Amino acid sequence: MTQHSAHPWEPSGWRRKVARQAPAYPDAARLDAMVAEIARLPPIVVSWEVDQLRTQLAEAQRGERFLLQGGDCAESFADCESDQIAKKLKILLQMSLVLLHGLKKPIIRVGRFAGQYAKPRSSDLETRDGVSLPSYRGDNVNRPGFTPEERTPDPQLMLRGYERAALTLNFVRALVDGGFADLHHPEYWDLDFVKHSPLREAYERVAESIANSLDFFEALSGSPIHEASLVRFFASHEALLLPYEEAQTRFIARQGRWYNLTTHLPWIGLRTAQPDGAHVEYFRGIANPVAVKVGSGMDPDWLAALVGILNPDNEPGRLTLIHRFGVGGIEDGLPRAIEAVRATGRQVLWVCDPMHGNTETASNGLKTRRFEHILGEVRAAFRIHEACGSHLGGVHFELTGEDVTECTGGARGLADADLSRAYRSAVDPRLNYEQALELALLIAGHRSG
Ligand code: PEP
Ligand code: CO
Repeated sequence: MTQHSAHPWEPSGWRRKVARQAPAYPDAARLDAMVAEIARLPPIVVSWEVDQLRTQLAEAQRGERFLLQGGDCAESFADCESDQIAKKLKILLQMSLVLLHGLKKPIIRVGRFAGQYAKPRSSDLETRDGVSLPSYRGDNVNRPGFTPEERTPDPQLMLRGYERAALTLNFVRALVDGGFADLHHPEYWDLDFVKHSPLREAYERVAESIANSLDFFEALSGSPIHEASLVRFFASHEALLLPYEEAQTRFIARQGRWYNLTTHLPWIGLRTAQPDGAHVEYFRGIANPVAVKVGSGMDPDWLAALVGILNPDNEPGRLTLIHRFGVGGIEDGLPRAIEAVRATGRQVLWVCDPMHGNTETASNGLKTRRFEHILGEVRAAFRIHEACGSHLGGVHFELTGEDVTECTGGARGLADADLSRAYRSAVDPRLNYEQALELALLIAGHRSG
């Protein structure tokens, strides 16, 4: 893309472009001071982990691994506590075990966590009773209460978010290193519900079979398999708030490249994926593997431009496209997208997000998603990729380890009327632990449905 040739890439170069979804900070000097402060702090991830993820994503691109990416729509500062983080890890671990067993491929586990604190909004303002205030844009930007004080973007929150991201990942690393994820004992990471869930038997069969295989392998090889080499987690978030991302973008001399060290896998959301926009400009210069959400509005030229700018050298594992057409849009949208990318001659990793194209309003006014639509889109994604000579290399979910009631359907048949019992999301509706596990079982083919 020739429009980029006027300036060499630099971490702040995005400032010359249009940054959509950018908060209107009242005090630019305070914002700059906060960026400088975060820049001085140690990074949350390191470059060799980022490189390792790129290598694994390249393997997924070749069909040798499968990506499971999941977590909250938006993390909140209040939910940065040990129990909730542990539960999120447990459900991701359980799902990955089921997928490993069913798909017979190693699973790459990537959390939507440790930095998922900034949200795109459809409107800059929210109006209640004739009063208009800036929309809530996530805990990194402003606060949810409907007062001018709470809604005014506050750069200090970026620092609070950076600290919580570090706390989260520190705890995740410690749990994994401490044997929390011991595959010989999946019963250690059972969530209480498994005891009385209709899915219990199906899940326990999978867990037992994996533990047996491990024992068999270790008996055969005469040495234990080190857990850390089997189970690890990577972090990801939507890199929406570019001052935050810029602050921890570092040149790693040994690699000769710039890295975003706030996370392993940053992604560009659908609303900020314009080829000439600030987000794409920022992303083109970092060495991380990157992802972009792809939806119905993106025509072949748009997709081809993104692929060309973000992966000019066709580097394996570099670019993941997360499609989110909705169960009603995938039959038409996905074949076109596959064709548009094929025409560029470059490889990408294809991942299905069956959440964001399936959001609707329930009869009681709550934002929800139906389990059958979510499952239907994933199944369609597997089928369409295969029919088009491509393959689906991963899935992307909004989920929680808690017993929330935000999506309808699933084994317990949650109905619209049940949603208000435990509706906790400040933004999009998430699968609860049971729905998430059921989805993994169905994708892996262990339960018919
Ligand atoms: C999200 O992942 O929470 C999101 C906003 O998705 P999208 O950019 O696909 O709408
Ligand atoms: Co969301």
